[in-house]
Amino acid sequence: MPTDVKQGTAETANLTYNGTSLSLPVIKGTEDETAVDIEKLRSATGLITLDPGYGNTGACRSAITFIDGEKGILRYRGYPIEDLAARSTFLEVAWLLIHGELPTRAELDGFTHEVTIHTMLHQDFGRFFDALPKDAHPMPVCAAAVGALATFYQKPESELQIHETIIRLIAKMPTIAASSYKHSIGQPFVYPQNRLDYTSNFLNMMFAVPSDTYEVDPVLARTIDLLLILHADHEQNCSTSTVRMVGSSMANLYASIAAGISALWGPLHGGANQQVIEMLERIAAEEGSADKFLAKAKDKNDTARLMGFGHRVYKSYDPRAAILKKACSQVIERVGQSSRLLEIAMNLEEIALKDEYFVSRKLYPNVDFYSGVIYQALGIPVNMFTVMFTLGRLPGWIAQWLEMRRDKDFRIGRPRQIYVGSPKRAYVPIGNRS
Ligand code: CMC
Repeated sequence: MPTDVKQGTAETANLTYNGTSLSLPVIKGTEDETAVDIEKLRSATGLITLDPGYGNTGACRSAITFIDGEKGILRYRGYPIEDLAARSTFLEVAWLLIHGELPTRAELDGFTHEVTIHTMLHQDFGRFFDALPKDAHPMPVCAAAVGALATFYQKPESELQIHETIIRLIAKMPTIAASSYKHSIGQPFVYPQNRLDYTSNFLNMMFAVPSDTYEVDPVLARTIDLLLILHADHEQNCSTSTVRMVGSSMANLYASIAAGISALWGPLHGGANQQVIEMLERIAAEEGSADKFLAKAKDKNDTARLMGFGHRVYKSYDPRAAILKKACSQVIERVGQSSRLLEIAMNLEEIALKDEYFVSRKLYPNVDFYSGVIYQALGIPVNMFTVMFTLGRLPGWIAQWLEMRRDKDFRIGRPRQIYVGSPKRAYVPIGNRS
């Protein structure tokens, strides 16, 4: 695993507070990102930092993913996302994220074999699905199912058990995802097929029915693979930070990933792709209302936002959105569908990128802006969009959890706060309360 993160420089940042001066070490990363190390801040001055939304806070050193949001750069373990998207498979990328290096042919074959033979769910899992409402949204079903996996595999977390958990998670997640969809539409579950590759197997479990034959289109399977690669990691975002936070209590990997899935479900995070397609459909239904919608998104008295636009880190074009925009037209051509939603999306983008509101705030399309259009063209139902994001993000969560657990500076995550509630007051008996 690369350990080329520079631990510090001779530089310091000086803070003076209440007559006390403190020299804070400056830390530099591989790409010269710079941080002030405040580990000694509270013990030396009594101060803590306050940073709502953690926009200025680095929670860890990490050697997994590099993002330069100003320049639109994304790299996994040093490899540009454009190269991985064009030349790798998802399982290859999963190995890269988890182990730090691209796999050799033998390593990839071994990994693929292990994943392939662990795709089935325990037969008792049927009772888990039976207990859920028929119209259950697949995201909480996936979160609950991953949590439930921990009840089937309860051995203490030795290195060997962690390896097996990683294989089981990557192998069973597509089975859980497809089963949650089949459950929601009342169709029989389709068993995994060892003869199929990772994404073809997923498509087969989603769309095959026992009464008919189903041939997986390799172009569509490759598109799903591409989408999974693009979502595989994104450094310390909300769900990944959740996985790290939960794992920092020494909670097991299943529990940590289940928490990450719940965090991803929110509309400001992974849930945005579902919101994008709903927004585009609304605009399509109200013929030509792109301008009207943009006006609402800009209005501070309106809660509407242009979904799929803006990002905490990217202040230029999200490189994943650029790759997906290209793939969109190819998929739509392949499935021979109308491209009405794609047209609306491109039109919205064009108007927004010329609009002073979006330009001045550096709001560009993010990964979710075009992913929904592709998923829809591929026949993936809208309530499964965020589940697709989950499938993709899984190896990133695993890699980040492992990195945290193996970090020599590892401590339980426990932020502080500035208390702004009532000062001490006398207890009022219930009979005296007005
Ligand atoms: N539409 C309209 N205005 C926006 C949007 C948007 N999509 N995004 C940000 N703004 C405005 C916001 O109102 C604020 O304006 P002002 O400075 O006048 O108050 C300014 O831009 C900065 O926004 P912010 O909310 O402070 O930015 P943030 O970094 O806290 O939020 C975000 C980032 C992604 C949550 C936000 O841009 C957003 O809500 N976007 C729409 C939801 C979305 O597409 N989410 C998917 C993110 S990418 C996938 C992922 O990582 O999960």
